Amino acid sequence: MKLIHVAILTGLLSGPVAAQEAESDIDAGHGLYFTFCATCHGDDAKGGGPMVEVLKVEPPDLTGLKAGNDGIFPTARVAFRIDGRDPIPSHGGPMPLFGQLFEGDSVMVESETGQPLLLGRDIADVLAWLESVQE
Ligand code: HEC
Repeated sequence: MKLIHVAILTGLLSGPVAAQEAESDIDAGHGLYFTFCATCHGDDAKGGGPMVEVLKVEPPDLTGLKAGNDGIFPTARVAFRIDGRDPIPSHGGPMPLFGQLFEGDSVMVESETGQPLLLGRDIADVLAWLESVQE
């Protein structure tokens, strides 16, 4: 019995500790963006992807996220709208399109308020690419 408890405790403790702080990979993020986002948000993230014609709501220009937020890239908002913690209908609402796709390794990313966010590595990479194309 005692052993099992120890095993469970160790499992719990090693969870968050396993998350690494690592540099995001902008090129990998660009590739993921191209595969999962460009159909709606466009190759250059300015909107106007090929699926626009069948959408009721126009995908926003994602290069204006920083400008539209007083010059600060809204890391947490963008991350949560992709991983489904802040569901929006166009991303599947209660059935998030991307949350599970991007599961896997987790990394710590500093949010715009300085608070650390635990994100899937792929999502962190997409965010890094998006931040690099802000105007
Ligand atoms: C099926 C089309 C579609 C796909 C695919 C898609 N989006 Fe969106 N996205 C939209 C639409 C439409 C909106 C705006 C409407 C809304 O808020 O519901 C939106 C909103 C957003 C927002 C919110 C912007 C804000 O001001 O907060 C972000 C960020 C975003 N998308 C990023 C992404 C990323 C990154 C991907 C790929 C992982 C992606 N989207 C894939 C259609 C899509």
